[in-house]
Amino acid sequence: MLKGKKIVLGITGSIAAYKAAYLTRLLLKKGAEVQVVITPAGKEFITPVTLSALTGKPVVSGFFTANDGTWHSHVDLGLWADAMVIAPATASTIGKMANGIADNMLVTTYLSMKAPVFIAPAMDLDMYAHPSTQRNLDLLRSFGNLIIEPATGFLASKLEGKGRMEEPDEIVNQLEAFFSKENKLSKKKIVITAGPTYEKLDPVRYIGNYSSGKMGFALAEACASRGAEVILITGPVGLSVNHPVIKRIDVESADEMYEEAIRSFRDVDGAILCAAVADYKPALFSENKIKRKTGERLSVELVPNPDIAAALGKMKKKGQVIAGFALETNDEEKNALNKLERKNLDFIVLNSMNDAGAGFRTDTNKITILFPDNSKKVFPLKSKTTVADDIVDEMENLLM
Ligand code: C5P
Repeated sequence: MLKGKKIVLGITGSIAAYKAAYLTRLLLKKGAEVQVVITPAGKEFITPVTLSALTGKPVVSGFFTANDGTWHSHVDLGLWADAMVIAPATASTIGKMANGIADNMLVTTYLSMKAPVFIAPAMDLDMYAHPSTQRNLDLLRSFGNLIIEPATGFLASKLEGKGRMEEPDEIVNQLEAFFSKENKLSKKKIVITAGPTYEKLDPVRYIGNYSSGKMGFALAEACASRGAEVILITGPVGLSVNHPVIKRIDVESADEMYEEAIRSFRDVDGAILCAAVADYKPALFSENKIKRKTGERLSVELVPNPDIAAALGKMKKKGQVIAGFALETNDEEKNALNKLERKNLDFIVLNSMNDAGAGFRTDTNKITILFPDNSKKVFPLKSKTTVADDIVDEMENLLM
């Protein structure tokens, strides 16, 4: 999987930097080409001589080489790499990456990186648990970076807890797992709906819901990283896409989403309908702001929105695959199976509002995938990025 892959290995100032030599060795053994970029603090823990002797390439550390003025282009490295792995990643580097503080070669390279980025944190348990570190890691996750969770065990501080950099063998396993999925969806085109819809009441008000779009965006990134061409039709969300092949179409209302989805569906192989589409919209839109009349009740008449999933289910041709979502509060599986059948879906992803960490706005989700033959796959609570991978695995099986 790693043969011929070009890896930028970022090393920062943690005691775990000694493991970076072994990681370099493993990557080279697997046939990868490795370019080390090290921070000034990283050099305090492992010498560039060791690393350059292993890789056969000068280690990049400063913006230029002092003795001959050779300029090192972080932009070139960003274009050259098939992946960037930052192992070990200290709290400080994680903070700089999350906030764009580009004061060393490693962070500038990170900011120019076009390839997927893997981050293996290494720090003391309290530093790892600190809200600042956790917020920065969440930010990095939201940028589409992959966090290689630290292990729990003995730390250099003689304390015991979560913060040990994951072992090099496991880091390599995670990289291999990632690349094994690459290109599995090449030549496939997938449309994804994401986020909430806003149904206008007047020029300043709408009826909406709490959907953040995180699940749909994670699905779009997962499909794109496997080589699919992705059309992401999204309601109003505060997220951005990373992968260059994702074509993003922003809409506001269910009607707009419906139009775009119907237009796109004709020439795609699959659809993942993740959007929390409003079932109803106001019957009338008030051109002027609706005024408060003291003491009087106000009723808004609602009319149904089009059901995008059901419409695509009707249009579906042989070979096309549609996955839907069901967010339920009661009789979960029964309701989800009902939707699966009614909307002519190929599978449905159930998440229950009764599960902690599942549903809207969280970074995690807990899903069950239900199939038309009543079979099901139950998954544990995972990050939305990993959940997206599980869902795309099913899509891939059906599209093969
Ligand atoms: O019926 P319910 O809204 O629970 O169905 C959920 C599934 O149907 C989701 O996949 C959602 O994206 C899709 N849906 C849709 N258009 C609607 C309502 C739901 O595509 N108007």
